[in-house]
Amino acid sequence: MYPRTTATTTDYVEDVSPGTGTLPPRAWYRASDAKSLLLNGDWRFRLSPTADAEDDAFAAPGYDAGGWAEVTVPGHWVLQGDDGAFGSPVYTNHLYPFPVDPPHVPTENPTGDHLRHFDLPADWPADGDAVLRFDGVESCARVWLNGTEVGTFKGSRLPHEFAVGALLRPTGNVLAVRVHQWSAGSYLEDQDQWWLPGIFRDVTLLHRPERAAGDFFVHAAYDHRTGEGTLRVDSEVPGRVTVPGLGLDLATGETATVPVEPWTAETPTLYDAVLATPGERVPLRVGFRTVAVEDGLLKVNGRPLLFRGVNRHEWHPERGRALDLETMRQDVLLMKRHNVNAVRTSHYPPHPAFLDLCDEYGLWVIDECDLETHGFVEHDWRDNPVDDDRWTPALLDRAARMVERDKNHPSVVMWSLGNEAGTGRGLTAMAEWIHARDTSRLVHYEGDATCRDTDVYSRMYPFHEETELIGRGLDGGTHKRRGLPLILCEYGHAMGNGPGGLADYQRLFERYDRLQGGFVWEWIDHGVRHPGLGYAYGGDFGEELHDGNFVCDGLLFPDRTPSPGLLEYRKVIEPVRIEGGGDGSVRVTNGHDFADLSALAFTWSYEVDGETAATGTLALPPLAPGESAEVKLPEPPDAPAGRETLWTVRAVLAEDTPWAPKDHVVAWTQLPRTPHPAPTLTPTARPAPAADDRIHLGPATFDARTGALLTLSGTELTGPRLDVWRAPTDNDEGAPWQPDARYGTLWRELGLHRMRHRLDGVRLTDDALTVHTRVAPAAADVGLRTTYRWEADGERLRLTVAVTPEGHWTLPLPRLGVRLALPEVDRVRWYGGGPGEAYPDTRSASRLSRWESSVDGLQTPYVRPQENGARADVRWVELGGLRIEGDPAFWFTARRWTTEHLDAAAHLTDLAPGDRVWVNLDHAQHGIGSQSCGPGVLPRYELRAAPAEFSFVFARRG
Ligand code: GAL
Repeated sequence: MYPRTTATTTDYVEDVSPGTGTLPPRAWYRASDAKSLLLNGDWRFRLSPTADAEDDAFAAPGYDAGGWAEVTVPGHWVLQGDDGAFGSPVYTNHLYPFPVDPPHVPTENPTGDHLRHFDLPADWPADGDAVLRFDGVESCARVWLNGTEVGTFKGSRLPHEFAVGALLRPTGNVLAVRVHQWSAGSYLEDQDQWWLPGIFRDVTLLHRPERAAGDFFVHAAYDHRTGEGTLRVDSEVPGRVTVPGLGLDLATGETATVPVEPWTAETPTLYDAVLATPGERVPLRVGFRTVAVEDGLLKVNGRPLLFRGVNRHEWHPERGRALDLETMRQDVLLMKRHNVNAVRTSHYPPHPAFLDLCDEYGLWVIDECDLETHGFVEHDWRDNPVDDDRWTPALLDRAARMVERDKNHPSVVMWSLGNEAGTGRGLTAMAEWIHARDTSRLVHYEGDATCRDTDVYSRMYPFHEETELIGRGLDGGTHKRRGLPLILCEYGHAMGNGPGGLADYQRLFERYDRLQGGFVWEWIDHGVRHPGLGYAYGGDFGEELHDGNFVCDGLLFPDRTPSPGLLEYRKVIEPVRIEGGGDGSVRVTNGHDFADLSALAFTWSYEVDGETAATGTLALPPLAPGESAEVKLPEPPDAPAGRETLWTVRAVLAEDTPWAPKDHVVAWTQLPRTPHPAPTLTPTARPAPAADDRIHLGPATFDARTGALLTLSGTELTGPRLDVWRAPTDNDEGAPWQPDARYGTLWRELGLHRMRHRLDGVRLTDDALTVHTRVAPAAADVGLRTTYRWEADGERLRLTVAVTPEGHWTLPLPRLGVRLALPEVDRVRWYGGGPGEAYPDTRSASRLSRWESSVDGLQTPYVRPQENGARADVRWVELGGLRIEGDPAFWFTARRWTTEHLDAAAHLTDLAPGDRVWVNLDHAQHGIGSQSCGPGVLPRYELRAAPAEFSFVFARRG
């Protein structure tokens, strides 16, 4: 290093130590009877291009910041400021957006000076001390109060406190915070997300009365054999603990054992308590539970768990990672309503209030440390901070800040060392420290393949096959690992359309005890609201390096609307299994780990051709977890012959709960009774050539030369003709590092997006018009011989398509069906799967019924446009004055743009409705898979080129 010539010292920015001047970490709590002052709001703000551009004069009282801009705290400055006035977000998955030369950072280091003036409230006590708390600042801060520097810190998503009592004045306090975007800490924060500098969580001034509570640790275990809870609260400042609901009043450090209701995510019983030290009363909520690995299984309160989890980054499309309480609550409610029972706080401790909500509503939490050094993978992990003793104090500081802050949450059952940081002595040191500090929880880290440092075996994105092998204990590995349960800390990559194959994972989880579930990647798309693009993703801010829309891979769209992926997941993980039993009965299995079924009511409805004919309730015993019962369905009401009939049985909430109202559907199934009859048509019309080069057949006219359908019952049509192309999904495109077949690319190479239709002949027979074609891409020797056979009675027209593949097809087809365009479509009505989209491996939530939508309502708004919106199992659809029936049932898609337009679009705003509606009627679809980061489509969901025949009957809507 060469000495700097500027007067301002910025050495702390590149210093690997965690910081200077901060207080030791301690338990976090929302409120107590001690006064506090939230310093959120409008702060004066000045942005500089480098860390040393400005001196520290701004921190002195009396400094005139009148000419400065303003930002909202909590917030990220790059998401504020008009038209990028404060710079813009940068998205990279794992690449460091600066040269890798730890601990150095670029000279171009956006630095935001923040200023806040405040007076103490009139009732602020004159005695005692005060603490200034920052709950989250990215990535490095230097703090002054009233002109005196109090310290510096790093560790963006962790709290940092300073003792400031001696510096406070009743009025005219000046809090100055200098925040640097890049610091040595950035090397430890290489998570797959936007780089977003700023004071993005609360800033609070806390009064600390004489003998106020310091750190405290609530130990609350549950013994499932005795039904008793054991409570002991260790407290730095001695005092008393009272739990009125349990009649307890004990000294800190004293142990009491009493009968209690345990805490579980399904039954989140919390006991209100108070920790009273001589100077402060802190309200607590105590949940009793015991976490252990026993007999190779992860158990809580003596019972094995099945995680139905999600990975949650903090995200809001306008505010980034600065989340308000209502948004956090919305996340928790959405999770509970979609049968999610667990959260991994990928990849950093969340705002602490989120954990309060997890305690309250009931979610298992893996709390993950703010640590990822993934970018070192590009350099064979050379210089990885987790294997360099100089960084170990920073790692231990992060571990301690997480554990001390969050240790009193019953919802937290595991500590995670971090994510994708390779391996090294620093991680081992973190694990050892955590194990010593908290013996009541497990340690998780996916990067530790030997499980030396961890208590569970954790993997991300293993293929189904390998998952099954692990389930069967045939995976090998170290002796320790072989004795541990497996959790998938990430699986089911929810990028764009998908993920496919979730149900197949769930069946494995349910079959093998060792597989204790997983966490879908991830909860929400990190799209940034953008005036011109709808939602922006990587590259939209002109970043030099970026990873495109890999940042939009959530089960929620950026505005928190559930995507079809979440609806699929909800169905796949429903905690009650309802199946057809023998002889007109239904079999119900309680798939909860702890709760009986007393919170649920069971209803049935009997449906005839998709319309409800009768409804009723079913009485079930309050089954314990794992138990099943069969109950008889009533005698079905009479339905005319030739109608499709089925039962829909639902498990609904019997009463309002804190997370959803009465009648909310938790689980459902459909049990077919009589099948849908195929449409019939007796070809009575004869194809009649006319003078105008047309052929008339029943209600239709055709071009005599090409055999193309021109009008049907007076409506002009384009097509139908064979179509095999879909706008590749993110999962079709696959991830760049995927070794095997990535069909998005292979399909394009083969030319499936530019198929040529060769006309081989138009033949008229007595009762049919047959058009012979061969559909194939230029330069290829594979093709699809395709005939269209048209028949009609007086009013209806039947198209039978026969497809025979020619040549050696090595690739599956994206889809197989016909495409046509209609001039005008208002509403669409159909009888089939709905209400949302479905594909072969994402169809669990598709329910057979009658549905209605606008064409726009059929679209799924993936942030990057791609194939979407297919409805499965469609018996008939009505649109644009036509009724189309299928034999067999078909997949239906309609949109105001062509597949080619959809394929070319980068953002939803690129899609402009044309003057026609494009309709795909598909005999088959290729599955979706999860190859954007994980396995591709399982063989059973692939659409292999094979001979096929399917037909549609078209008629004017009656
Ligand atoms: C994982 C990683 C996540 C995310 C995901 C892909 O490897 O842990 O942070 O990058 O892949 O979206």
